[in-house]
Amino acid sequence: MRIAILSKGSLNYTTKRLREVAESRGHEVVVVNYAKCYITVERGNPVIYYKGEVVAKFDAIIPRIAQSYTEYGTAVVRQFEMQGAFTTGSSIAINRSRDKLRSYQIMARHDVGIPKTVFARETANLDEIVELAGGAPLIIKVARGTHGNGVVLAETRKAAIAVMQAFYVEGVNFMVQQFVAESAGTDIRALVVGGRVVASIERQSLDDDFRSNTHQGGVGKAVKLTPEEEKMAIKAARAMGLPVCGVDMMRSSDGPKVLEVNSSASIMTPERVTGRDVATKIIEYIEHNAKSKPKKDKVGA
Ligand SMILES: Nc1ncnc2c1ncn2[C@@H]1O[C@H](COP(=O)(O)OP(=O)(O)O)[C@@H](O)[C@H]1O
Ligand SMILES: [Mg+2]
Repeated sequence: MRIAILSKGSLNYTTKRLREVAESRGHEVVVVNYAKCYITVERGNPVIYYKGEVVAKFDAIIPRIAQSYTEYGTAVVRQFEMQGAFTTGSSIAINRSRDKLRSYQIMARHDVGIPKTVFARETANLDEIVELAGGAPLIIKVARGTHGNGVVLAETRKAAIAVMQAFYVEGVNFMVQQFVAESAGTDIRALVVGGRVVASIERQSLDDDFRSNTHQGGVGKAVKLTPEEEKMAIKAARAMGLPVCGVDMMRSSDGPKVLEVNSSASIMTPERVTGRDVATKIIEYIEHNAKSKPKKDKVGA
């Protein structure tokens, strides 16, 4: 098969591993910097250009779209879809997953455990918002944050209200969320490929930060999921329409709570600390599914 990895960094661990594995299995692989692609849109003729040349058609693509390039990147993914390429993540699903509130609504509807989340305009009674989210301490997070930037822990009701007021003044889109105190500073990332969890790690913040993102200095180690956690991760991936993804969860006294589903999760720490070969699972998934007709998006939100 001809496979394109849509990535801005050809030296990125995940990109390198996917390329290596796909090539060793006899595929032709090109790393395409989607940020440098340009496209022409006209009736019945979807063309993609890259460095002055027309990009020849691919059988399959693996989109690894950065958060800050969501709009441009998913437009390029859509163009590949229009050419009939199989994709490990559809443009619709990637877009959807980049909006946290929309993701929570979809997951809640599909019976996925999430922390109770409140979304309101500045016309609301701020005390009531705090109450609805379960009272302080609580989490305030912006709708499109990433790597832990844009997530605030408000320890008191007063702090929560001050943060909300500041966000409203700046016109920032945010949510107020129940704080999962039981496992603060620790979260679990489960890598799901084709309806199976292929590796799972626990990330722990190094200092007393409540955020466990590796970009905030969190470290990862292998973790065994409970059957309930495994089912929840698979359910979240299915709800979001992302067959290849990283599901972030926290352990709470009320079962696993999903924080987000990542369409371009890194496989580096999961492969290194669990010894699992995630890249091969992803390429196998493509081999088994690329020939079938693309499934219609049925998420409906
Ligand atoms: N409701 C919550 N309760 C406790 N900790 C949270 C909660 N939401 C987020 N966190 C912590 O903050 C980190 C970042 O939050 P997340 O929603 O995943 O945003 P980002 O997209 O920036 O990674 C999580 O990995 C977790 O450690
Ligand atoms: Mg996260």
